[in-house]
Amino acid sequence: MPWPPRGYHAAPEPAPATARLPGHPTPFTEDPQPMPSITINGTTVDFEPGQTILQVANAHGIEIPFYCYHDALSRPAQCRICLGEIWAPNPRNENKLEPQAGGKLQPTCTTMAGDGMVVYTDSPKAVANQKAVMEYLLINHPLDCPVCDQSGECFLQDYSYEYGRGVSRFQEQKVKQAKKDLGPHVWLYADRCIMCTRCVRFDREVAGAGELMIGGRGNRSEIDVFPGKALDNELSGNVVDLCPVGALLDKDFLFAQRVWFLKKTASIDGITASGDNISIEHNEGKVYRIKPRENEKINKFWITDEVRYGWKFIHSPDRLTEPKARRYGALVEAEWPRAYRASLDGIQAAMDKGGRLAVLFSPMLPCEEAYALATLAKTLDDNAIFAVGPVPVQGEDKAFPPTKSVDDDDAFVMVAEKVPNARGIRRVLKAVSGKDPIEFHEFLGTITNAGALILTGNYPNDWVPQELAAAATERFTVLIDTLPTRLIDASDVVLPGATWAEKAGTFENHRGLLQAFNPAIPPVARTEGQIAHDLLAASGVDAYIAQRPESHFRRPDVAVVDDGPGQVPQATEVELPRGLLFAAASVRTQMVDAGMPEFASDVSLPPEATRKGGDMRVVEL
Ligand code: SF4
Ligand code: FES
Repeated sequence: MPWPPRGYHAAPEPAPATARLPGHPTPFTEDPQPMPSITINGTTVDFEPGQTILQVANAHGIEIPFYCYHDALSRPAQCRICLGEIWAPNPRNENKLEPQAGGKLQPTCTTMAGDGMVVYTDSPKAVANQKAVMEYLLINHPLDCPVCDQSGECFLQDYSYEYGRGVSRFQEQKVKQAKKDLGPHVWLYADRCIMCTRCVRFDREVAGAGELMIGGRGNRSEIDVFPGKALDNELSGNVVDLCPVGALLDKDFLFAQRVWFLKKTASIDGITASGDNISIEHNEGKVYRIKPRENEKINKFWITDEVRYGWKFIHSPDRLTEPKARRYGALVEAEWPRAYRASLDGIQAAMDKGGRLAVLFSPMLPCEEAYALATLAKTLDDNAIFAVGPVPVQGEDKAFPPTKSVDDDDAFVMVAEKVPNARGIRRVLKAVSGKDPIEFHEFLGTITNAGALILTGNYPNDWVPQELAAAATERFTVLIDTLPTRLIDASDVVLPGATWAEKAGTFENHRGLLQAFNPAIPPVARTEGQIAHDLLAASGVDAYIAQRPESHFRRPDVAVVDDGPGQVPQATEVELPRGLLFAAASVRTQMVDAGMPEFASDVSLPPEATRKGGDMRVVEL
């Protein structure tokens, strides 16, 4: 089973033992008090006062099974699989170890760790309890693992193997319960439920919605929605992650993929300014689902449904995949070199007529790509106008649980700003140009003397106001975007870009935290950063021309195109030097050199992808 398990987070770092006496100007360090310690299954470990035995075990990688416990929820001690034998020193008997609660097993998820305690969850008594709990849970659980979406990441499966019996003694009829449609995103397969109540507690304690309940009694108990309600709050998808078995399933992922085929890439929310830590789960270049990654400072254990399901535009059948350039009035498909040549020629021609270059930087782009595009713009026109694209805001930030404020550190916040990197774009453009960039509502008013535009989009939905399309029609316009909008017809060159899931970079979230992310899947076109590097190389900037290491040969980007009008096309070649490969980490180094030291010191990097070894022993033959 995966370890550490879901719902686990490490113990906080102990506070330094320093103190200041009145009248003493310099602090001194006291002899640190010895940390209290506890012995669990023969391993002695230190702990922080206030931790439960299960928390101490989790923090030190000592395995105790649990279902109902979760770090962020109340603790009903419902499932009883974590019970252990607990011995504690008795100060009234010379601190001799004595069994607690008269030797009865006690829940380690709710019992506080005490100094000198000795706990067994691997004693015969505790193991007998684990086997009894597993047998009880499996009495009515269908053995449908081959068709269950949770198979491969199911706690019941894992614990059956590690703590269960090898055989079933149950010969009666299993209780059958219906499959229920709980809401827009979640199915309940009720007879798989082990009644851990995590979903109900989350719905009340975090989402604050109270849509879920437990109905019935005994083996007829089942999870349900209150009459007339649906599980339809902004966080509803989190109950699927919380469910330790396959009872709550995501409609969007149902039967889509076996989980053991999925690769996980650590990423950052790419559609809102939350900076939520996410895992993009994909196979063979296709994204199947997005799950939260734990980050105590930002999203805790959760993500909103808009982040969980808002990635579909990545695989939209309408994605722009081929460059286009206007020829004889019509926008037609063009090879990359030809589109690049047309872009540079058009911008140069506009500037030769006295027009300036204006660039609209989308807040969907990471900081590194904004830097590369700004470098390109400064190369083409030292006085280029820099502006930030539209920053859509829907309502107000919303805190969960709703009793908290959006400023509380322990609240999970659904952010109203629906782009991931407006702050990062402003930060980079200010560093490159020395002044604040123009905001979008001022953009059209400031480009009256602009002869050429470079517009970047990359929004998940239509983002273009009619006035912007009209302004683009009147000027030479290069559009870099991922989905078709009314700007396509207004542009002279269209270069297809890449979504955040297909690239690396850094986003700055609504609280100013800089977080880097990696690409999950290959781009269907070219990243905006690569396009910037290619155009810099095509403009003749030596530092951006790719060198082939084996021969130091400047490899050209070549297209043979029919460039003549009429019935007899005339073949001409467009040959451009190939741009330096865009690598976000290298660009961050350039940004540090360009006066943005925070990109060396303040960017939190995604965790290294870890490969878990197979659990099958390899036998030497
Ligand atoms: S549906 Fe899942 S999360 Fe909810 S009580 Fe049942 S097992 Fe627990
Ligand atoms: S985890 Fe302790 S009783 Fe469920």
